[in-house]
Amino acid sequence: MEHITKQPFPADFLWGAASAAYQIEGASGEDGKGPSVWDVFTKREGTTFGGSNGDVAVDHYHRYKEDVALMAEQGLKAYRFSIAWSRIYPQGSGAVNEKGLQFYDRLINELLANDIQPVITLYHWDIPQALMDRYGGWESRQVIEDFDAYAVTLFKRYGDRVRYWVSLNEQNYFAAYGYETALHPPGVQDRKRMYEVNHIANLANARVIQTFRTHVPDGLIGPSFAYKPYYPLNANPANMLAFENSEDLNNYFWMDIYAWGRYPKAAWKYLEEHGLTPTVQEGDWELLASAKPDFMGVNYYRTTTVEAHSLSGKFEAGEKNTTGRKGSTKHSGIPGMFKTVSNPFLETTNWDWEIDPQGLRIGLRRIMNRYGLPVFITENGLGEFDKLEEGDVIRDEYRIDYLRSHIAAIQDAISDGVEVIGYCSWSFTDLLSWLNGYQKRYGFVYVDRDETDARELRRIRKQSYYWYKQVIQSNGGQL
Ligand code: BG6
Repeated sequence: MEHITKQPFPADFLWGAASAAYQIEGASGEDGKGPSVWDVFTKREGTTFGGSNGDVAVDHYHRYKEDVALMAEQGLKAYRFSIAWSRIYPQGSGAVNEKGLQFYDRLINELLANDIQPVITLYHWDIPQALMDRYGGWESRQVIEDFDAYAVTLFKRYGDRVRYWVSLNEQNYFAAYGYETALHPPGVQDRKRMYEVNHIANLANARVIQTFRTHVPDGLIGPSFAYKPYYPLNANPANMLAFENSEDLNNYFWMDIYAWGRYPKAAWKYLEEHGLTPTVQEGDWELLASAKPDFMGVNYYRTTTVEAHSLSGKFEAGEKNTTGRKGSTKHSGIPGMFKTVSNPFLETTNWDWEIDPQGLRIGLRRIMNRYGLPVFITENGLGEFDKLEEGDVIRDEYRIDYLRSHIAAIQDAISDGVEVIGYCSWSFTDLLSWLNGYQKRYGFVYVDRDETDARELRRIRKQSYYWYKQVIQSNGGQL
């Protein structure tokens, strides 16, 4: 649809940026913090690009004031960050670590003093290693109790000052990467276990949303879903069906649970036929249906295109490009469902991610039509090689182009009738990309370090920093 006039962004639109604890904080063993699964996993040979890890990351733990000052200068209205569970409960449960709580007190107060709304993510992939050792982390239903107790501690401590909360970040990725492709901790390749873990995570998500209502009655909470809208390769009905399969199995399988507490029928049939259904206990469906989020958090980077894949075909987990060598991604496929293919209409990044602003608009409309929920875009950004030039200049026009086109697509979606409450670009400073090291940069602020050498971790504003400042100032009027 082409609009004669476009609707402006709402006056209270949350222009923000996002991060996650392990990717920025560093101070990995400081002030009583216990190890998380990522502290342990990254030390295993061959798990990350160039052996990179978050021991120091960009040292936000010690430099948060400098980082918040840069946010304030840019005019950010919101900053999304995650809390490291093992800073609060070094053993995952039991004794609380006051010093951990105090760090986030300081950060939240600093943000508020600068008129920046904190957006807290309860969980961004860093479950305490102690829980993994004790009962297998997300594989045990005990995690539902422990995650809830941890969340209640945060709700009680920060609920008076923090209105926006994200429950689980990209559950679809931590389940799939942890238990299907083995790229994330605990490095398991077992699809049955993946669906078990995922179901337990769904229950944990529902439980914390329920408890949130008691402790933060005026707050808003929702999950952040890694949303890759799908396209069929063409109008061949077989490919159209493959597209429906991929939407059901890879998108609605999560979002339907968040919004309605049920799995899409066809996807559930697929799991039944292949012996992959998770264990469902009495009371599960009631709990899942009782915990509607206030918004659908969307992390959007790209779309994926699929075609038919016959039952006699091979299961392909795919291969991820973690080096920035264009063309090194390998496609994935699920026999009898779909396989991924390149989209001839889209350019890709050096990491082979399709650049597709219209895909964001399409995805937003699908969410609006299916669930009628407001959307909070909790991540969107471009990971690229950046070059620090003489005189501390970083000309990241490619990032500006990417962000500009995606923000324009959001305005189109708003004009289509979608309610979007905010936009957090990924990321504020450069940070550790889990599997791609420090060379894949996302920030508005360059951090001078590489995979192994933390150097002085100097912060340098990129061109995109100034560009986004003007976007915020004009409330999206000047892109
Ligand atoms: C999301 C995650 O999947 O995408 C972030 O929530 C992550 O933590 C971001 O860094 C970009 O992914 P990558 O693999 O390029 O770092």
